[in-house]
Amino acid sequence: MNSVDKFYEREFKKGLKQEKMRKGTETLKVRDGVFDKSTLMTLYDLIKAGKLDTVQGIVSTGKEANVFWGYAPDGKEVAIKIYRISAATFRNMWQYIVQDPRFSDIKKQYRQVVFAWGRREFKNLKRLEEYLPVPKPHIILNNVLIMEFLGEGGIAYPQLRIAGPDDPEKDFRTVMSYVKGMYKEGIVHADLSEYNILVGPKKLHPIDYSQGTVMRNPMARQFLIRDIENVKRYFSKFIEVPDMDILLGQVTGEKNE
Ligand SMILES: Nc1ncnc2c1ncn2[C@@H]1O[C@H](COP(=O)(O)OP(=O)(O)O)[C@@H](O)[C@H]1O
Ligand SMILES: [Mg+2]
Repeated sequence: MNSVDKFYEREFKKGLKQEKMRKGTETLKVRDGVFDKSTLMTLYDLIKAGKLDTVQGIVSTGKEANVFWGYAPDGKEVAIKIYRISAATFRNMWQYIVQDPRFSDIKKQYRQVVFAWGRREFKNLKRLEEYLPVPKPHIILNNVLIMEFLGEGGIAYPQLRIAGPDDPEKDFRTVMSYVKGMYKEGIVHADLSEYNILVGPKKLHPIDYSQGTVMRNPMARQFLIRDIENVKRYFSKFIEVPDMDILLGQVTGEKNE
């Protein structure tokens, strides 16, 4: 525990929760400067609701989301995925369009789309947590998703592309079994690759389900094939892998003549 944590813990014990929350959100502002006002409010609400204690630091800066790590009130580490509301491209568009009364609602609509991404990731994780070693989802509120932290001390488990497979044959079978497990639950990841698999000490963890969709989506089969293609491409650097039709057949249970 660093001194900041110790400070917060003391404050908590003294029952100065209100004060701590104020300081907590101020720390966020100063430390990272990346939270817009509404995201700060959402973080504040999550703290009030007892779902979050502190945000400690940033783990990853992505195009659509940033991932932070922090602590839940029970002392466990959590990953905090914050979908960007203020994407630069949108800001540019928005400057031009906001004064037009016909589009006064557009900011709200844009936010709704971003929120929907978060909800979708949460829903997918919720659906799969029983079957696959995905990060356990805790809560989604607006553009902030809180989930189990896959890693320790603020260090996330490495992506498969960095760590490499430990046992390529076995890891390939494992990842394909995840694809099959998702398919059985009617879900396709739609962005599966060595980037979105974390290598834990015991398991491979599939992550990043914001694009995940249901099999009844007309694009689902195409996504499924692309996912398998990615897995196949990656592992073929290490081992010989079966052809696409065989792998697809293994996942869907469909016979290929
Ligand atoms: N639950 C988690 N636990 C630990 N680290 C995570 C977790 N979720 C994401 N990360 C870290 O953040 C990175 C980006 O997360 P990801 O969900 O793939 O978002 P995106 O690719 O859209 O930026 C991951 O590669 C990983 O390093
Ligand atoms: Mg990713």
